Amino acid sequence: MKSLLEVLSDEVGAAFEKAGYRREAGNVTLSNRPDLCEFQCNGALSLAKEAHKAPIAIAEEVAGFLIENPCFSEAAAVKPGFLNLKLSGEYLVGLLNSMKAPDFGYENSGEKQCIILDYGGPNVAKPLHIGHLRSAIIGDSIRRILSFAGHRVIGDIHLGDWGLQMGLIITELKKRKGGLPYFDESFDGEYPKEPPFTLSELEEIYPTASLKAKEDEAYKKEAMEATLDLQHGRKGYYVLWRHIMNVSTEDLKRNYRNLNVEFDLWKGESDADAYIPKLVEKLKESGQAYESQGALVVDVSEEDDKKEIPPCMILKSDGAALYTTTDLGTLMQREEEYHPDRIIYVVDKRQALHFEQVFRCAKKTGIVPESMRLDFLGFGTMNGPDGQPFKTREGGVMRLEALISDVNANMLEKMCVDGVELSEKEVRETATIVALSAIKYGDLSNQASKDYVFDIEKFTSFEGNTGPYILYTIVRIKSILRKHAEAGGSLEKIKILPPESGQEKALMLKLTQFSATVHTAAAELAPHKICAFMYEIANEFNRFYHETKILSEENNERKQSLIGLITLTREILSTCLGLLGMEAAEKM
Ligand code: ARG
Repeated sequence: MKSLLEVLSDEVGAAFEKAGYRREAGNVTLSNRPDLCEFQCNGALSLAKEAHKAPIAIAEEVAGFLIENPCFSEAAAVKPGFLNLKLSGEYLVGLLNSMKAPDFGYENSGEKQCIILDYGGPNVAKPLHIGHLRSAIIGDSIRRILSFAGHRVIGDIHLGDWGLQMGLIITELKKRKGGLPYFDESFDGEYPKEPPFTLSELEEIYPTASLKAKEDEAYKKEAMEATLDLQHGRKGYYVLWRHIMNVSTEDLKRNYRNLNVEFDLWKGESDADAYIPKLVEKLKESGQAYESQGALVVDVSEEDDKKEIPPCMILKSDGAALYTTTDLGTLMQREEEYHPDRIIYVVDKRQALHFEQVFRCAKKTGIVPESMRLDFLGFGTMNGPDGQPFKTREGGVMRLEALISDVNANMLEKMCVDGVELSEKEVRETATIVALSAIKYGDLSNQASKDYVFDIEKFTSFEGNTGPYILYTIVRIKSILRKHAEAGGSLEKIKILPPESGQEKALMLKLTQFSATVHTAAAELAPHKICAFMYEIANEFNRFYHETKILSEENNERKQSLIGLITLTREILSTCLGLLGMEAAEKM
């Protein structure tokens, strides 16, 4: 479906043509003087020179052809040559009445692509910290937006499950429980089914080992050897690794469930391992890989680079694979299994150089076809109120669970003060939903690439550009609709009638932007545009609500129309929330 602006541009373009001018001059935009008109066209101004006419004269001629046009209630030529346009109420409600679930008029006009989305990226056996929050929230919302836009989207968590942290854990376990069969290379019996640690032990083992490795060279060397042994398939280590994976992913799944973040694939760096020999062979075959100081590298610099892009390191001199290697192996695997049209990585923007190297290497060596689109969506840092990366009060890395429970507690406090007619259990459940909206909206409402300050007081406020404000608006609408139904009113097959006030029309006009907004958010991978849209709708709705009687409206036809309008408002807001991975509460 064409966006409203495109449709209006077509209409005005046709009028320019009838008046003997170029059609392109009919480009219509939203008005930048909403007090005067809803839409505007500045085409007459740009035609003046070539037409040797005053712009206002051109605008007047064109306006003459627009008087009869059913789309507009007003088309006025104003000095120096603008066309000020207002939509006719009839035409406007025609649009609204055709906006039906589930897509509300959105149509994917382009091709349907197969898109792999790489986000989340937690590291196994390390607790999730807030650095992983952004990737999960942004990635999951892009997955939802692109799916809504009609693409086949495959979300892959890409676990960090093959690096040094595994060697560190194995080494530390060996120190503590060296008698276990995993460490005995001659063992050929059956390994125990139960993991030799609990989740909380595992979470303690990693930081301990990591600290030891920093202070003790020999310990670090041992951990590196254990990593290499694991990667070379040492049996006991592999079985141990599976235990680490099982215990850790179970916990990760629980965490992501709490965040309402979903993945289609739970693959990881380890899945790329089987591709590494093939990868190395292909790189050598391509003639691009060469040895440099014992390491295998590929040059990826280009002539017009503004800053130096260092070569891509594929294998270290000891034959060990690197982060680059697993990402290239993963690309090989993804191409082989899915032939995606596009892959999007949602990763901290500090990894931009790594991905630039990987993308260039993959393209120039033919690991992926030239036509595959590779995008790096780098996000900024989540800072604390002091402008520095968010930390705990003690100055340590903030665990995701701790952050969520802080926000939950804050929300619960607020809700108890406001004291609504909810049972204690309902208050708790609602607080969890609202708290999640505070966290997600606080993040997603910023352009992803920018750093932002996590301000718990601001994010949990029921006023301003926040998740709780949007939820509160939806709850307000739900409550009106509930009362309407309780009084025996119908919620079915309602026709929205032309607006009777400026504020009602403003709300209607805003709702018609749904399709264009989703389109832009999908094209630009920009969830923040959906947040901004929801905020504008909520504001228009609340203004409308304050000056309009709905339930006490006496004219039944008019009342039903108002019910229809707020129902559509609720549906659009809920759909947008869904695109961001949030949900609304019933009562608040
Ligand atoms: N595990 C990585 C980290 O914590 C992020 C992974 C991003 N994805 C990728 N394909 N490299 O930094």
